[in-house]
Amino acid sequence: MDKILIRGGAPLSGAVPIGGAKNAALPLMAASLLTAEPLVLENLPDLADITTMSNLLAQHGVAITPVKGANCGAARGRTLEFSARTIASTTAPYDLVRRMRASFLVLGPLLARCGEARVSLPGGCEIGTRPVDLHIKGLERLGAEVELREGYIEAKAPKGLRGAEFAFPSVSVGATENLLMAAVLAEGETLLVNAAREPEITDLAACLNAMGARIDGIGSDRLTINGVSSLHRARHRVIPDRIETGTYLMAAAATGGDLTLLGARLDHVESVARALEPAEVVVSEVADGLRVRRRNGRLAGVDVMTEPFPGFPTDLQAQIMALMATAEGASMITETIFENRFMHVPELMRMGANITVHQASALVRGVKRLMGAPVMATDLRASVSLILAGLVAEGETVVDRVYHLDRGYERVEEKLAACGARIERVNGGA
Ligand code: EPZ
Repeated sequence: MDKILIRGGAPLSGAVPIGGAKNAALPLMAASLLTAEPLVLENLPDLADITTMSNLLAQHGVAITPVKGANCGAARGRTLEFSARTIASTTAPYDLVRRMRASFLVLGPLLARCGEARVSLPGGCEIGTRPVDLHIKGLERLGAEVELREGYIEAKAPKGLRGAEFAFPSVSVGATENLLMAAVLAEGETLLVNAAREPEITDLAACLNAMGARIDGIGSDRLTINGVSSLHRARHRVIPDRIETGTYLMAAAATGGDLTLLGARLDHVESVARALEPAEVVVSEVADGLRVRRRNGRLAGVDVMTEPFPGFPTDLQAQIMALMATAEGASMITETIFENRFMHVPELMRMGANITVHQASALVRGVKRLMGAPVMATDLRASVSLILAGLVAEGETVVDRVYHLDRGYERVEEKLAACGARIERVNGGA
């Protein structure tokens, strides 16, 4: 199994290309199930989760082909065509869904297009229980009959889905995406209240409209969808990954470096730039993306609370904790989205961080230096926070279970090494 080896202490400088957003790409790929005509997606990142979604779609009957001539140039993201001319199977099997929870996003499109879907329940997850009750309740509101049988959600709408109003009791990115994709082919008008407003939702809604859907209120928490009888071909470019952007912002800040994040968008990471400002980190817009550097001297501790967009993202909580580990003073980091998203804490403490967790908050008392150590984590963002810690630690850090990183960070060691980090991937055997 591969490991990442880091010798810390080198400030990063240079430019990092930001890839297409994983969490935008996955629902966009699922949206290809909604039409018999091809959907071309540009700027897809080359990640394990994208392969998993491709495998799932292929077994539903989607033909996936690279689009010639579109994959060259500075932007390395791939362009693929997804063609769901006929749906071969409306079952999403446990074997594939358990590997990646986002597989559950095929439920809405399959139900809307075929009037039935059988999708395995994803099961538990390292960061929380992550139920799917809101997806189910919303689909039931649109007229679906839903049953749980042998670990599978079986949903039927023999006469088609009907538009309705659904108010989310709490914000859910995935449930908003599933309902949006179901409602575009429902009969009549659907109103989604307290919908998630993440840029990934905006991207999905924009793509669906390009496919012929009629969605209003994009970017707000009230989405109105006027159902249409069918969707058509479209070509869409995936937005840049705001979580990858935020991660490299933290990497530059942690090492006292100066990085340009090519293609990154400030409007997607405003809460992050705002949180970093009192920490003495400057994020500014430049012609080709964002520039980040430390004002002077040591970082200052700041308090952060995760919230749905436009608040500070939970997917950057582990990374800012690694950053705050060596800041001057204390910072309080509060996680409000997931109930168990502090698995990186004991690993950071093995590197010398001083962190106390009480319920949903972690009090980080900044230390002068971290020390390299062998570490591992059980999820994607926790793993990358250990890489950030390794970049500033004295000595050698070895991050194990690299497959977590490969789910969401494209060529992370290459991108960091190109900016001066002493980092390499090593083959650690079985
Ligand atoms: C998406 O997950 C992202 N995944 C997550 O990124 C991200 O952390 C999360 O949104 C929050 O921003 C993808 O986009 C593929 P939610 P999702 O539904 O949609 C509860 C990463 O590292 N909830 O917004 O699953 C849920 O338990 C991943 O890239 C219900 O109670 O998140 C959580 O506490 C990790 N019932 C909260 O809502 C439901 O039916 C927010 O979850 C659905 C969710």
